[in-house]
Amino acid sequence: MTDINLSYNEKRLLLALDRAGGSATPADMVASGDFSLEVEIMGAASWLESKGLASVSEESTSYYVLGKGAGELPERKACRLISEAGGSLSMADLAQRMPGEDGIAVGWLKRKGLADITAVDGNRMLTLTDKGAEYLVSIGADEVLLEKLAHGPVPVSEVDAKIAKDLKGRQGMIAEETVTVRTISVTDAGRDLIQRGIELREEVTDVTDTLIQSGKWRDAEFRRYDVGTFAPAVYPAKKHPLSRLAADVRRLFTDMGFTEFDGEYVQPSFWNLDVMFIPQDHPARELQDTFYLEHPGKIHIDDEDLVATVKAIQENGGDTGSTGWGGTWSREMAEQALLRTHTTVNSLRYIAEHPDAPQKMFSLSRIFRKESIDATHLPEFTQIEGIIIDENGDFDMLVSLIREFYAKMGFDTIRIRPAYFPYTEPSLELEVFFNGKWMELGGAGIFRPEVVAPFGVKHPVLAWGFGFERLAMLKWGITDIRDLYISDIDDLKSNQVL
Ligand code: PHE
Repeated sequence: MTDINLSYNEKRLLLALDRAGGSATPADMVASGDFSLEVEIMGAASWLESKGLASVSEESTSYYVLGKGAGELPERKACRLISEAGGSLSMADLAQRMPGEDGIAVGWLKRKGLADITAVDGNRMLTLTDKGAEYLVSIGADEVLLEKLAHGPVPVSEVDAKIAKDLKGRQGMIAEETVTVRTISVTDAGRDLIQRGIELREEVTDVTDTLIQSGKWRDAEFRRYDVGTFAPAVYPAKKHPLSRLAADVRRLFTDMGFTEFDGEYVQPSFWNLDVMFIPQDHPARELQDTFYLEHPGKIHIDDEDLVATVKAIQENGGDTGSTGWGGTWSREMAEQALLRTHTTVNSLRYIAEHPDAPQKMFSLSRIFRKESIDATHLPEFTQIEGIIIDENGDFDMLVSLIREFYAKMGFDTIRIRPAYFPYTEPSLELEVFFNGKWMELGGAGIFRPEVVAPFGVKHPVLAWGFGFERLAMLKWGITDIRDLYISDIDDLKSNQVL
């Protein structure tokens, strides 16, 4: 116990409590001039409490106070108006004399039996009862309470419950407030310590330039900090980690001069698949991979020229020099509505509107695939997609963009492998080493002539689509993709912002 480390304020508090006979409230100690602020006392008290030298007890008392809407009771005002009018007044006149309050007044006149309502010549008249006349020269129990409250709070225990309940029910008349009084008491251990003697020396808590320049630091007693001591954890509000990662991705692309673009989740197969030179018998179109919709089941493609061009390219290559896929292309299949299976559809729709070089566009948005949910698959997930249309665009430019993106996101070890997509040539797949194995992060390539020809694009279009959730998993070492969307509050609290 002798090596117990007490701050200046803790020592002051022990001594003040001792002077007060062992226990006191913060208000008492401020009143006696021992301290100037209650917060100082409470801060020191909680430290003494954690060291077993003092204890803090709380007692709460409820009080009634006057509400913001307190004033003359409307039924009192109404009685006066009726009496001034000779004992009876029409409802219409009352409404004119106390607009907005007349309804409440009439309600209470009836409830308290102060006036009767009768119909005279089609007018509804209010007539004071005997009780009403008496009321005019007396004061109600509720008014007595209001009067008392006007002079200060009254403990709930001293107030008639029925009267309080009625006034509380009348909006804003009275309110309830709870006042908590804390009492700090010295424990036996605290008393022992006081008996052994406490030396009070002022401590320096902040090293200022004056302290250094004046040389006073030489004699100063510095407050000791125990960084290992218990302190309650504080969890300030912060954005969801996925939102923060999305903001990072967006910032990264916009810093590199890209513009964000997004489109609809619901697309005709035409834009999601056919325009992309995906053959109509491609496995990706299978029902087990794609969510086809019933409402709308079809989306009509208005652009007849584009339909004709895409049909020709699919069947025989059209004017592109390609041989196409052969067979007969079905417009009906192309008009089937689906939930987009990749955001590459955003890139194509963007190109359709902006076919000229240079262009730099990205999208960060949701896609849908009919996957069974497991540790690495979800039926809804997010893609980081983008294109560059550039006169000098080539495979090297694409690879360096990908490397730069991942390096900026903090991943240097990525691997690029040849791949196949129906819409790009050459194509690549990129992987990152994670948890002892290479994990696929996305695909990229240069759009084939069959894809860009219908829009009159004259320069190379570099395109990519990366997995967003995979990136999040890598960043935070998460092995189960479902954990990203479960939003476990403890995980969210402990997720670090920096
Ligand atoms: N659309 C591909 C996918 O979903 C990614 C990709 C985009 C590949 C653009 C090449 C070009 O995996």
